Amino acid sequence: MRSLGQVSVMMLLVVLSARAFADPDMLQDVCVADLTSKVKVNGFVCKEASNISASDFFFDGLAKPGLTNNTQGSLVTAANVEKIPGLNTLGVSLSRIDYAPGGLNPPHTHPRATEIIFVLEGELDVGFITTANVLISQHIKKGEIFVFPRGLVHFQKNNGKEPAAVIAAFNSQLPGTQSIATTLFAASPTVPDDVLTKAFQIGTKEVEKIKSKLAPKK
Ligand SMILES: *[C@@H]1O[C@H](CO)[C@@H](O)[C@H](O)[C@H]1NC(C)=O
Ligand SMILES: *[C@@H]1O[C@H](CO)[C@@H](O)[C@H](O)[C@H]1NC(C)=O
Repeated sequence: MRSLGQVSVMMLLVVLSARAFADPDMLQDVCVADLTSKVKVNGFVCKEASNISASDFFFDGLAKPGLTNNTQGSLVTAANVEKIPGLNTLGVSLSRIDYAPGGLNPPHTHPRATEIIFVLEGELDVGFITTANVLISQHIKKGEIFVFPRGLVHFQKNNGKEPAAVIAAFNSQLPGTQSIATTLFAASPTVPDDVLTKAFQIGTKEVEKIKSKLAPKK
């Protein structure tokens, strides 16, 4: 199964890199990120070419399932430019997402990338919502693929009895994530209650309750 997964992911990457319109195009072979540089550019500045090695293009952090014993019952492990400096300017990245039975990857968006997932194990109910407010949803299982278009709100839920896992590919070195609930109810400084009471047509008490539940754990 692993090899089927790997082959599929490589195919996805080829497709995505041939059509990597989300990140700007590269102007040199490689621009391995100097993650320590204080200089800010659109992406990361390049390391000295003499200082590049295979380790800049390597990451083994998706080999094992992530721990899903948290309130949502899911964990996203990113393999983006922050983990793989060699991805800088290349316009692609991956994540692994693990789901406990009942686990949810809550509604969120990636402002800089389309996402395509490949189910490694288990089954998921997935969906995204268009700007016309139409829900496009599907039940997917091991070996199957689903796509979440760039910028649209989407989610995955494991309604099965077994753990589930996917590999997600993105046409950005750093797709960015805005999780709707935490963006609105756990921002810092906080979004004013009167914005949230009016937007959601609920009272201040309900807003405060949600805020306290989603507050970052200290
Ligand atoms: C090369 O990389 C090492 C380790 O990251 C760093 O300490 C050193 O300053 C780098 N040298 C150059 C010339 O960039
Ligand atoms: C999750 O499990 C790990 C390993 O079993 C443990 O170290 C960690 O404290 C647990 N986290 C929570 C939030 O229970």
